[in-house]
Amino acid sequence: MKSPKLSDRTNSGSIVENRLHLERLVSAAAPTPTEINAGSDVVSGLTQNPKSLPPKYFYDDRGSTLFELICQLPEYYLTRTETAILQESAGAIARLTGPCEIVELGSGSSTKTRILLDAYSQLEYPLNYVPIDISPTILENSACQLLADYPSLQIHGIVSTYELALAKMAPPQLPTRMLCFLGSTLGNLNPQECDVFFSQIVGALRSGEYFLLGIDLDKSHEILEPAYDDSQGVTAAFNLNMLRHLNRKFEGNFDLTQFEHLAFYDREECQIEMHLKSKKAQTVNLRSLDLTVEFAAGETIRSEISRKFNLDAVRADLSRRGLMPVQVWTDPNQWFGLILCQLSANKD
Ligand code: AVJ
Repeated sequence: MKSPKLSDRTNSGSIVENRLHLERLVSAAAPTPTEINAGSDVVSGLTQNPKSLPPKYFYDDRGSTLFELICQLPEYYLTRTETAILQESAGAIARLTGPCEIVELGSGSSTKTRILLDAYSQLEYPLNYVPIDISPTILENSACQLLADYPSLQIHGIVSTYELALAKMAPPQLPTRMLCFLGSTLGNLNPQECDVFFSQIVGALRSGEYFLLGIDLDKSHEILEPAYDDSQGVTAAFNLNMLRHLNRKFEGNFDLTQFEHLAFYDREECQIEMHLKSKKAQTVNLRSLDLTVEFAAGETIRSEISRKFNLDAVRADLSRRGLMPVQVWTDPNQWFGLILCQLSANKD
C-alpha cells in the first residue's frame, strides 16, 4: 500500500505502519466466487421490464469523486445537515457509549467520522476505527490521512461488501463497539432488503453494543427533487457515469450522449428515483456479458432508489428487533435524523 506522508514516528511514539491494518475480505467458502458472479446483477437488471441497475455501479473512482462533489452542492442538504447534527451530538454519543471501537459501513472519505473521533479523543478515550468500504483506493487514502491527523489512532480497514463484513465481524479491541451507518445509505435498500440488512446488523453485534444510523427524512418534493437534479448537473454526470463504468467493466457500448438523467420523488413510495432515459430507440451491447439490450425511445433504466424515512417509524422498527433507541437527534427543520441504539440483553 501507499506509505503515508509522515515521518515514521509520531508524537505518541508509535510507528505509523503498526497503527494501520488493511484487510480484503473474500468469501472463500461461497459456492459462487464474486469473480464468477460478476455482472449477473447487470444481466438480470437489464433483461427485466422495467429495467434497473444496482446503485453500487455508481462507485468507480470517478463516481466516488463525483459523489464527493455532490456532497458539497447547495441543493444536496443531506451531508451538510447530518454533519451539523453530528457536531451537536458527538459529545453526547461519546459519553453514552464510553470507550468503544468505531466501525463504519461505507466509510468513504471518513469526513464525518472525524467529528466522532474528535469527541472520543476529547474524552481521552482510546481511538480505534474500523472503516469498511468496497473501494480500496478510498479506504487507503482516507486511512493514511486519518493516521496523520490522529497520533494515537489505530485503524483496521476492511475492503468488503457490507454483507460479508457483517458476517465476519471480529470481536472489538475495546470494551464495546459502535457500528455506524451514516449518510442515509439505508435509503438505497427497498423494504425487503432493509429487513435483511437489519437482521445482519443484529447478527453482527453483541448485546450492549451500539448502532448509529443516519437517515434522510420525508419532506416536500420542492426540496427533495433539486437535491437529486442539481443546477450544475453534477448529479446528472454521476448518474450517467454508471454507463461509462459498465462500458469499461463489461466491454459495453452505451453512448452517453443518447441517455439523459431523470430524478423524481414518488410520494406514494416515499422515495426518490433516479433513472437513465434513452433519448431514442437503440441497441446496446455488453460484450463480456454476451448481452444485447434493446431500448425504446423514452424507455428508462432505474439506477437508484433513495427512500425518505419517518423517524418514529424507523425507531419503532429498530426496537422491535432489539435495537433499543438510546437517543435520537435531528436538525431544526427535521430534515435528517440520527438514531443511536443499543442491542438489548436478550438477543438469542
Ligand atoms: C449515498 C445513497 C445516500 O441516495 O442520497 C446522491 C447517493 N444519489 N445523489 C443518496 C446519491 C444521488 C446518496 N446515498
